Amino acid sequence: MRGLLLLGIAVLVYGDASFITKEEYASSLYHNPRGIGCHLCHGERGEGRRIATYHEKGIKKVFEGKPIDTIPFEQFSVRMGKPIVGMPHYYLTKGEIQILYYYLHHEEKKDSDATAKPKPAKKVP
Ligand code: HEC
Repeated sequence: MRGLLLLGIAVLVYGDASFITKEEYASSLYHNPRGIGCHLCHGERGEGRRIATYHEKGIKKVFEGKPIDTIPFEQFSVRMGKPIVGMPHYYLTKGEIQILYYYLHHEEKKDSDATAKPKPAKKVP
């Protein structure tokens, strides 16, 4: 009986993911995607980030995570499915790739909604 009660509590606390919002889930996956967080190489919002500079045969080189907030979903999804040189491979599900893309773009949608021009009033004949 006690075990059942504990199980009930555990399900209540952990079983239902709906107590975190889609934004929170997307952000946590971006920062902790079963591996190194994307933000460490691609920046907090996918804007890109310089990781290191080094010299190779006397020439200064830059190792950087590209901006990933401007590419179309098609490209994002295809590239996430294959190993990328200089980046860990994550084995993410289709849903997880979608939510990561959502993370990189949901603010933008909000902004464009906020600045969207009001529709012209309908002409009354
Ligand atoms: C250790 C650093 C590192 C981490 C961590 C990392 N990346 Fe990358 N990623 C890179 C580098 C470097 C490239 C650029 C490779 C190239 O020049 O083609 C890249 C390329 C990409 C591309 C292709 C961009 C394009 O223009 O086609 C995508 C998409 C991407 N990363 C998404 C992610 C996501 C999502 C995560 C987290 C799940 C992540 N990366 C984590 C280093 C990283």
